[in-house]
Amino acid sequence: MAFNKMWCTVALGLLLPFSYAHTDFFTSIGHMTDLINTEKDLVVSLKDYIKAEESKLEQIKKWAEKLDRLTDTATKDPEGFLGHPVNAFKLMKRLNTEWSELESLVLKDMSDGFISNMTIQRQFFPNDEDQTGAAKALLRLQDTYNLDTDTLSRGNLPGVKHKSFLTAEDCFELGKIAYTEADYYHTELWMEQALKQLDEGEVSSADKVYILDYLSYAVYQQGDLHKAMTLTKRLLELDPEHQRANGNMKYFEYIIAKEKEANKSSTDSEDQSEKETVVKKKDYLPERRKYEMLCRGEGLKMTPQRQKRLFCRYYDGNRNPRYILGPVKQEDEWDKPRIVRFLDIISDEEIETVKELAKPRLSRATVHDPETGKLTTAHYRVSKSAWLSGYESPVVSRINTRIQDLTGLDVSTAEELQVANYGVGGQYEPHFDFARANEPDAFKELGTGNRIATWLFYMSDVSAGGATVFPEVGASVWPRKGTAVFWYNLFPSGEGDYSTRHAACPVLVGNKWVSNKWLHERGQEFRRPCTLSELE
Ligand code: OGA
Ligand code: FE2
Repeated sequence: MAFNKMWCTVALGLLLPFSYAHTDFFTSIGHMTDLINTEKDLVVSLKDYIKAEESKLEQIKKWAEKLDRLTDTATKDPEGFLGHPVNAFKLMKRLNTEWSELESLVLKDMSDGFISNMTIQRQFFPNDEDQTGAAKALLRLQDTYNLDTDTLSRGNLPGVKHKSFLTAEDCFELGKIAYTEADYYHTELWMEQALKQLDEGEVSSADKVYILDYLSYAVYQQGDLHKAMTLTKRLLELDPEHQRANGNMKYFEYIIAKEKEANKSSTDSEDQSEKETVVKKKDYLPERRKYEMLCRGEGLKMTPQRQKRLFCRYYDGNRNPRYILGPVKQEDEWDKPRIVRFLDIISDEEIETVKELAKPRLSRATVHDPETGKLTTAHYRVSKSAWLSGYESPVVSRINTRIQDLTGLDVSTAEELQVANYGVGGQYEPHFDFARANEPDAFKELGTGNRIATWLFYMSDVSAGGATVFPEVGASVWPRKGTAVFWYNLFPSGEGDYSTRHAACPVLVGNKWVSNKWLHERGQEFRRPCTLSELE
């Protein structure tokens, strides 16, 4: 059999670190596309309104010009003018009826159509929460992908098709949102960016005094008194009467004087302990750092020796009659836990059908609250999802059978096919797919045991970001349209495999569609017999 070497090389290449490998409305692009169409309709309706207003003004203008000429002649020789009986009649008519008609025309409201359109559409507009959500998504992306503020503001992102930049006012807005979250780190970054763009001469309605007010406060909150003072001085140069700034200035001077006093008598040991707390603060949540590094394509933990043992092959589903003549391409993505990827495993047509079925049902994805066992939304899972049953479409049913054939596991006990759409900033922070020993009730109502394995279809490419990463073992799996990955969450003993902890990285540019099937323990007793040793 002619073995296609190309995709094998691709498979191995994927295991090497990349230099740059490459949502509530904001949680899903699927829903945001509706907004774009709404906005387009509103523009059409606004243009109609402008046309109507212009034609009304045109009529008024013509009338004014006509009357201007007429009154000119009439005032020059009123008696002569009125000596003509028609002129006399017309004057009566004009004053009695025509001026009133004009008055009605002037008063006529041309905005009806536009305003009623607006009223209807406004019900579906994003609200403050959506706007804040989208802003926070930008801040999250900035951290995860180590983007400096200027790069983000100028829109210099990898893989973008429609470049877009932030105005000084936008930067100011982002800074304010960070400020209301008491996130002074990002407040400083974005206020500084707003100021920088204004200093470079950007024409804007953003006000330097306001920006400096926020900026100096954010800097002060982070402990840099001297910088806060310099900024406040700058503010006072622009607005010497600014009350708060004047008050702050005095306060800063007082604190600095006090510090100098204290420094004289302070011991080194105190300094040391202060430094230590700063270091400790920076060091929190090591998992988060591992996660973010993997998302950026850094920190992959694969040795060349292990990599050599990763292969690709044609797979017939363990002599499944449906695949003997047409085996599928399979690559090893990772060894421990074993993660395999199937290629060309879902067609573009099937993807379109699945997306179309899911779209009207997409709603904010939920998670199990370990305390109540109930489903809730959470900031750490930002996406929209929908569930599709095999009964509603032959395509879904066919996909389910495919998963059964290729995994050898019974899909009748599996959950329905879940379709998920992540918009920009959409993510799912590190989690286990299986229920831990301390949450035995998680899948109780299903009555099919724990989630033994996960099958995940990638139904889109993602321009940048959006990898599935495994922070425990240092693995990143990049979305490739038409492929699927599969791994076991449980050992054959039924014990959870903690190395399968994984996350969906935030989407930086593009739109990510996946669908997954969670297979359960029941039904697999003869397909994957359990063993006695716990972690085998
Ligand atoms: C999930 C999940 C990974 C991804 O939905 O449980 O882990 O890349 N998704 O979307
Ligand atoms: Fe998961």
